[in-house]
Amino acid sequence: MSQSKDAVTLVEVAPRDGFQVVKPFIATTDKIRVIEALAAAGFRRMEIGAYVSPRAIPQMADIGAILRQANLPKDMRLQVLVPNGKGLDMALAAGNTEICWVISVSASHNQNNVRRSVEQSLNDFENVWHSHGDKVGFLRFNLATTFDCPFEGRTAEAAVIAVIERVLANVTQVEFGLCDTTGRAATDHVEGFSRKLIEVYGNERVTFAFHGHDTYNLGVANALAAYRAGIRVFDGAAAGLGGCPFAPGASGNTATEDLVFAFEHMGVATGIKLPKLLEAADLAYAVAPDQAGGRIRTVPRKRALAGFGQATRGIAFATNAAE
Ligand code: COA
Ligand code: ZN
Repeated sequence: MSQSKDAVTLVEVAPRDGFQVVKPFIATTDKIRVIEALAAAGFRRMEIGAYVSPRAIPQMADIGAILRQANLPKDMRLQVLVPNGKGLDMALAAGNTEICWVISVSASHNQNNVRRSVEQSLNDFENVWHSHGDKVGFLRFNLATTFDCPFEGRTAEAAVIAVIERVLANVTQVEFGLCDTTGRAATDHVEGFSRKLIEVYGNERVTFAFHGHDTYNLGVANALAAYRAGIRVFDGAAAGLGGCPFAPGASGNTATEDLVFAFEHMGVATGIKLPKLLEAADLAYAVAPDQAGGRIRTVPRKRALAGFGQATRGIAFATNAAE
């Protein structure tokens, strides 16, 4: 029966990766409405925003107001993305101790994204970590372009391993985010490389998460491949919003509602209430309809929810619900 399958943790990244590409500034109150709806759906990890240059990503400029004004459950874990020491200083000053540091493995994407060579970014990280890494409560280290780069194509595994080893020379506890920034990773690449990394580096203090985009309709397939490899933490964005402004051709994150559907349908618990998540996804869609993706949101609601979640209790899935 299904109870023996390992549960997963979904990290909702719409407030950061989802909103960052939206051109017109989304009102802070609209952002908060989406964020609170996502919390009501059951997420307990969320990437709430980023401390980045407001010139590079104007949409993240109101992170302070969001943190002050959003009404969120006490047990909500909020992580913030930072690309450099200034970002970390700002995050810590605002009381954020769950940090998502980001480096792109590929030289050209790192240059476009943070205007540094990979070596410079790693040096920045080492310096900052030695001066105030002790104030960081939880470190997510996102390896952007782990599988594929918009400028260089398939990423060499040795390049990813080199960054991982540099990080592990400095930190003892970390969750590496294996990011398919373009959404172009091949499914067997995700599965094989994730398995290899877990085998070589994984332990209770060094864990891996999968961060997928759905540009080529491989988002769910790649998440399931990562699950088969042993990954248990997944990023997604409600309504499939998202994308990196510095990754031409890439579209949104894998929709979290599609991930919830896929996992729960095969008996893997996510802790998320799909009907509530679909309500939140509708709100996310409303703020950025041009960016939205995902499939389950567009299936007639009654049909999508008919018998949903019964797989986790070992009951046959209803297939012919009235609409
Ligand atoms: N948060 C806010 N402002 C920052 C900052 C941060 N983390 N880091 C630098 N800045 C400010 C500086 O204070 C400076 O401001 P000023 O011109 O008013 O004095 C300005 O940005 C330029 O600083 P500099 O260090 O020269 O940065 P840069 O121009 O080389 O840009 C980054 C580097 C990393 C700051 C910028 O490319 C960036 O924010 N990238 C974010 C990319 C991103 O979020 N991508 C999507 C997620 S993967
Ligand atoms: Zn992303």
